[in-house]
Amino acid sequence: MAQAADYQLGPHTFPRGWFIVAESSELDEGPMAVRFFGQDFALYRGESGRPVMLDAYCAHMGTHLTASKSAVIVSDGKQIEGDSIRCPYHGWRYGPDGQLDDIPYHDGPCPKSGAIQSYEVRDVMGCVMMWFDPEGGGPLFEPPYLPEWDDPHWVRWQLDHLGEIAIHGQEIIDNMADAQHLGPTHGAPCEYFENEFADHIVIQRQGGYHHTYQAYLATTTWYTGPGLLLSKQEFGDVLTYELIANTPVDDGVTKAWHGALARARSVPHSEEDIAAAREIQAGALHAFAADFDIWRHKRPALRIMQMKKDGPFKLVRRWYGQFYDQITQAGEYHAELNGTHHIKDFDAPGEAHQKLDKGLFGT
Ligand code: FES
Ligand SMILES: [Fe+2]
Repeated sequence: MAQAADYQLGPHTFPRGWFIVAESSELDEGPMAVRFFGQDFALYRGESGRPVMLDAYCAHMGTHLTASKSAVIVSDGKQIEGDSIRCPYHGWRYGPDGQLDDIPYHDGPCPKSGAIQSYEVRDVMGCVMMWFDPEGGGPLFEPPYLPEWDDPHWVRWQLDHLGEIAIHGQEIIDNMADAQHLGPTHGAPCEYFENEFADHIVIQRQGGYHHTYQAYLATTTWYTGPGLLLSKQEFGDVLTYELIANTPVDDGVTKAWHGALARARSVPHSEEDIAAAREIQAGALHAFAADFDIWRHKRPALRIMQMKKDGPFKLVRRWYGQFYDQITQAGEYHAELNGTHHIKDFDAPGEAHQKLDKGLFGT
């Protein structure tokens, strides 16, 4: 297992950005104890419906706020009050901002020194997403959102929970540059290929004929920050959006989720539409599983033996590095990388592909 420092990412151990920490429907079931970025967190939904994420441990005596399920206050369902949460040990209450707002047996104001860290979290497209910044700053950009999520013509995804894998996010992000794996790994060698860098976004456009399924596959795939991939895909006459999310659990260990949005034939969509969408998601997962299987068994690529017609791994790694660097350096990365990049002898995307991009990136 390789870590951020082995890839010479840094100076931070974990990257800045929006990351999935749970599926929204999981959080509806009750408070969760989650671990990401080498830290433990308490995650719960307040009575207003708002997701709240706090450092896990109570200032009083270090109890995990959401890990114990047998305390009576938890089993009686009395832990959440409004958008605040009570510690299961002695009942100290924290607001969604992490401030202590009640100590049941204490007169007078709660000590400010008892505050714990709170994090910005949002419900986006059925996912609970958090903003993580190793320097503690607020969001620099918005999480990705597809209007199709709220369009009745589309069937929403239910996430595949792929669990933890002992691989660094760097190896997953490499896929954005990896033109030459599309044939051997996925069966659809690309006929054209392009990368575009736009600040915190990296885009890949490619297309080619899928030999197993005998249909043309064209995809526009983009990361919004280091943890959230969306991909618009036209495969024969099927149009889908795929989601692949990776969130660091510890340095070198990554948790992953997958989903696909599919267009329905009827509005409101029928049972058949839902079944068809699930089948499309399973097909997309099958294709992604080929990458996942390779990552699971490979040794870390700390150095890549670059060929001329490999994609621009170095640029994509440089782009990824911005999220591990000081916030003040971001502008330098953008000035250096922004623009499109083509591989020697590969065509750029043509007019047909531009149609696929319609509605994306503000077009
Ligand atoms: S340890 Fe949390 S209230 Fe005492
Ligand atoms: Fe891949």
